[in-house]
Amino acid sequence: MSEKFQAVVIGGGPGGYVCAIRLAQLGLKTACIESRGTLGGTCLNVGCIPSKSLLNLSENFHKAKNFSNLGIEIGEVKLNLQKMMKNKEKAVTILTKGVEFLFKKNKVTYFKGIGSFKSSDEILITDQNKEEKTITSEKIIISTGSQPVELPGVKFDEKVILSSTGALSLNSVPKKLIIVGAGYIGLEMGSVWSRLGSEVHVVEFLDHITPGMDKETSNEFMKILKKQGINFHMETKVDSIKNIKNAAEVQILDKNKKKTSLDCDAVLISVGRKPNTENLNLKSIGILLDEKKRIKVNKNFETSVKNIYAIGDVIQGPMLAHKAEEEGIAVAELISGQSGHVNYDVIPGVIYTSPEVAFIGKTEEQVKSEGIKYKVGKFPFIANSRAKAINESEGFVKIIAEENSDKVIGVHMIGSHAGEMIAEMAIAMEFGASSEDIARTCHAHPTFSEAIKEAALSVDKRAIHS
Ligand code: FAD
Ligand code: NAI
Repeated sequence: MSEKFQAVVIGGGPGGYVCAIRLAQLGLKTACIESRGTLGGTCLNVGCIPSKSLLNLSENFHKAKNFSNLGIEIGEVKLNLQKMMKNKEKAVTILTKGVEFLFKKNKVTYFKGIGSFKSSDEILITDQNKEEKTITSEKIIISTGSQPVELPGVKFDEKVILSSTGALSLNSVPKKLIIVGAGYIGLEMGSVWSRLGSEVHVVEFLDHITPGMDKETSNEFMKILKKQGINFHMETKVDSIKNIKNAAEVQILDKNKKKTSLDCDAVLISVGRKPNTENLNLKSIGILLDEKKRIKVNKNFETSVKNIYAIGDVIQGPMLAHKAEEEGIAVAELISGQSGHVNYDVIPGVIYTSPEVAFIGKTEEQVKSEGIKYKVGKFPFIANSRAKAINESEGFVKIIAEENSDKVIGVHMIGSHAGEMIAEMAIAMEFGASSEDIARTCHAHPTFSEAIKEAALSVDKRAIHS
């Protein structure tokens, strides 16, 4: 007899584990199946957490090297990469174990193994010793996430040809690192290795970095990264990558068809991620995929098969941990008869470089193309007293408001702590705030967030400090 559950989640990433906990909180007998051996998915194991750990540690290293300019003499600053990596691994272990603890606390049954469909209510679990077990469930939620995309004919070896996973675990600093793709991963990992001493070259086939970001913000972002020493080859394609022992030769082709050959110690391919829809036996039970091989769902996260749902990176929308979590909670509540909901207009994005880039809502380009009449308020951190006082005055806050209603519909920031400050704007937008609401809210002085208030004042052309 197979064990019976009311709900089973396949995949223990931020979408899956949060969903499983919420289902259990709502009283359903719940299980979660995860194949990688630890919980937390891409995010905790090889994504958000290890990358943010290395971003923080490499930034500290870089800052420490420049302390003497600030009157702090500490002698020679040396890198101990092995120790730095251990520190990163410690953070990952604590957090992944933490999720296991939360499963126990909430009575979620945890199966280690690969889950695949035997029928629409039966899941086969194959563990690492190839032992099989079948469980049944009334509701099944697919949250199997995504994986890095390879370039045609170029296989990841995680030593010279790297995906983000390899780039998070190098055991020496590459003298020269080529990065293909100027998106989130390329720019975060490029910052890490550049700060630790690599000569970094980013090859991007578009004429701008971070596609989809507000253009003015992405232009400013690129200027700042260039100043930090990152080299950009824009409107340039990778023609070929030759993996030579412990090194690579990358042929690039610019828009004028000029070929250049770049030698390097490692190449990071960060050209996007693809959904994990193989190995699940989806076709046999009739689950439909879209043109990008993501699982098709309706607004209630229902797939084409009754009682089977999907959330997170494996469905449409931004591939972000907090988006996956929100969907996990929403689907658990919908399954339990509540009215779960995700507001896709108010999902923040943050790039954890230095300075950080954070955004929410519509870009100026989107607003224009949708024919919305709008006003913009902008305030530079150079005019913010806290930013000046601590020498972190790059960037700005930009607020876009509807012309007639004054409702805030987009916010874009570059600056220290932007990733934390964007939460204020998420709340404001959830409550339908106008720029005047923000402008009339008292912000503590001296703080970076005063720049938000000033940008809001500037929507009405009445900023005080610029
Ligand atoms: P995943 O986290 O991918 O989890 C899916 C899990 O399902 C995996 O653990 C996988 O092993 C398991 N699985 C797959 N198939 C099966 C199967 N058949 N049976 C059992 N288990 C299976 N997002 C942010 O919001 N902020 C960030 O700072 C950020 N940084 C990132 C940095 C990097 C380097 C990367 C690669 C990603 C980053 N992301 C970030 C994106 C974020 O990690 C993902 O959006 C998020 O993890 C998606 O959650 P998920 O639950 O949908 O999928
Ligand atoms: P991405 O989609 O962010 O960026 C890919 C970049 O590669 C784009 O600029 C694209 O134009 C370019 N590109 C594609 N093919 C190319 C080619 N052949 N040659 C040159 N350039 C090419 O993808 P990335 O960086 O791999 O990250 C995947 C996802 O992971 C992100 O979209 C994001 O959802 C998530 N992530 C989020 C982070 C965060 O929230 N801070 C950090 C890291 C990842």
